[in-house]
Amino acid sequence: MLHILFIGDIVGRPGRKMVTETLTKVKQELPVDIVIANGENAAGGVGLTPETADELFSYGINIITLGNHAWDKKAIYNYLDSTTRVIRPANQPGAPPGQGLAFLALPSGQKLAVINLMGRAFFNSIMDCPFRAADDLVETARKTTNLIVVDFHAEATSEKAALGWYLDGKVSAIIGTHTHVQTADERILPQGSAYITDVGMTGPYDSVIGFTPKLVIERFLTQMPVRFEVATGPRQFSALWMSLDEKTGKTTAIKRIFHNELTDNVK
Ligand SMILES: [Fe+2]
Ligand SMILES: [Fe+2]
Repeated sequence: MLHILFIGDIVGRPGRKMVTETLTKVKQELPVDIVIANGENAAGGVGLTPETADELFSYGINIITLGNHAWDKKAIYNYLDSTTRVIRPANQPGAPPGQGLAFLALPSGQKLAVINLMGRAFFNSIMDCPFRAADDLVETARKTTNLIVVDFHAEATSEKAALGWYLDGKVSAIIGTHTHVQTADERILPQGSAYITDVGMTGPYDSVIGFTPKLVIERFLTQMPVRFEVATGPRQFSALWMSLDEKTGKTTAIKRIFHNELTDNVK
């Protein structure tokens, strides 16, 4: 069995700190072989820098995925071309830096493929069709392995659920990211693919999706540009744990994980 932990969008320094603290706890409770994390908000709340990526790797994360904030920090552009451990949405049109598909060598000699895709509904409509992009990527990945995890970074629940059902049986897991709010619909679809609409956010708990509520409210009230700040205070950790059958590539068990510094300490 291959045990994978997928951590939801890590927001800023509080999110990175929460990863170090919680990963140890999770590993005491569950076997974890590989850690994948969405890092699109890891550097100051928007984007990822080479330094923050390296910091996350030092905490035991193996592969970092991105999303609509992939291009917010210029320093990542060259870095994306020099690493196979950080991937950006594969269906970005043109020829952006980096890759949307990564292969990770496993101790067993097998490989794990990780794919990053972005949705279009209520989102960035210039992206190429994620369904057709998934067809090509899965075909490529399956020439090497049947252990395939997809991070589908999208806004609309329906688009995420549709891609989940579209890829059921072709990949090991379809994990939704981007909304920063964990959904309680984790399941294994009939053909053996793990699915969750959104795995959630790792970062400040008293926040609007990771940011200081006062500033987000101000933007809604005034409709003026307001610079968001990563919130402070207690932190949360959101993830999905999966157990994959290395022969079939199917997921046989899943567990949704949510830790919150406030409630974790309530006896
Ligand atoms: Fe995010
Ligand atoms: Fe996002």
